[in-house]
Amino acid sequence: MTRIAVIPGDGIGVDVTAEAVKVIRAVGEVFGRRFEIEMLPYGADYYLQTGIALPPNGYAMLRDEFDAIFIGALGDPRIPDMRHAREILLGTRFELDLYVNHRPVKLLHERLCPLKKRRPEEVNFVVFRENTEGLYVNVGGRFKPNTEDEIAVQEEINTYKGVHRIIKHAFEHAQTHGLTKVCMADKSNAMSSGHALWQRVFWELTTQYPGIDATHLFIDALAMQMVKNPAQFQVIVTNNMFGDIVTDLGAELQGGLGMAASGNLHPGRTSMFEPVHGSAPKYAGKNVANPVGAVLSAGLMLDYLALKEEAGAIEAAVQDSIDTVHGTADIGGSLGTRETGDYIAGVIRHPAPAHSAPAHSTPAHSTPAHSAPAHSAPAPSTQRPAPGTQE
Ligand code: NAD
Ligand code: IPM
Ligand code: MN
Repeated sequence: MTRIAVIPGDGIGVDVTAEAVKVIRAVGEVFGRRFEIEMLPYGADYYLQTGIALPPNGYAMLRDEFDAIFIGALGDPRIPDMRHAREILLGTRFELDLYVNHRPVKLLHERLCPLKKRRPEEVNFVVFRENTEGLYVNVGGRFKPNTEDEIAVQEEINTYKGVHRIIKHAFEHAQTHGLTKVCMADKSNAMSSGHALWQRVFWELTTQYPGIDATHLFIDALAMQMVKNPAQFQVIVTNNMFGDIVTDLGAELQGGLGMAASGNLHPGRTSMFEPVHGSAPKYAGKNVANPVGAVLSAGLMLDYLALKEEAGAIEAAVQDSIDTVHGTADIGGSLGTRETGDYIAGVIRHPAPAHSAPAHSTPAHSTPAHSAPAHSAPAPSTQRPAPGTQE
């Protein structure tokens, strides 16, 4: 049995989480796995009604009573200081010490990339964002707030241990996935103390991975190169704030924020999974949000839980939905959030032979990282009805 805590949260977090849960249930049925899914009410409404973001034992409960945590998104205009979101989202990252923010940037179809003529294999890398320190630690304060003399200080904390473990994770990921390139990005030309530590640790660690081509870019140049020539990247490692920013850029390279997935990990411990996007309040409850980022985050979760075949089935079903243009308007489809989730869950239940085992390729779950994607044939189309809509 696999115990999963689910916090749909706010806005479109609720919409996309329903689809991720639907897909997890379909996987459970098909693979004979028991997923015990506990829906938790935390989010803006709960906070506004009770004054509580998470109960006092919340982090211990999430860590000790579940194998994994899934969060939709947090953020609500009624709570402008984002207090509840900081407590739930950043609190979970910090309190459970989820130091790896694993954010794949993987283009699933040429038509989704805003760059001209980029094939899926040219946009396929992973960003490891440090997730427990940096500018996010909330060390600092405001002196003489709301006056003309105000002084605001927000410290960036970089520790040897913190920097070391995320960079080491990036190298280990490369090594265990047959990848040969790791790029570290910082701003050591301007931030000559904190980022000197990143330099020291990175170049120290490179000596332990002689088979890996280790490179460095300043973060501004990384942003430029991600647009100019994303094919050069396999693994990028960077700090908390820079990782936040470049993964929104990475999301866009894949077709938009609705497509991007993430895992917040502490290897070996209860970890948390969520799409990269936020609560997009203007789309909340309208059945328009793209659920793919959430569904792929559920795939990352199952992969992390060592349910590799199950995770592969999710990836393959999402790939099918993209190839056959069964998706939401943001990616050129005509389905709603629910219908897209129904379609993906339907493919998991009844994979179409042409897609599940194309003669010229291998199923996505057995595709080695960084090989060409399974589906290179033109999409046979929109002929197959969305199976889920009948369910
Ligand atoms: P956002 O990611 O919510 O939305 C930005 C825009 O991206 C949307 O207006 C929409 O055009 C597009 N978009 C995002 N997700 C989409 C989806 N699934 N399908 C289709 N289009 C999608 O970012 P924002 O507007 O800056 O933030 C809104 C709120 O969410 C804020 O309160 C913010 O703090 C919060 N936020 C939360 C998280 C999180 O919970 N992990 C992440 C980012 C932002
Ligand atoms: C993300 C989000 C969060 C972050 C916000 C909501 C605090 O943007 O998960 O990417 O900055 O980490
Ligand atoms: Mn972000």
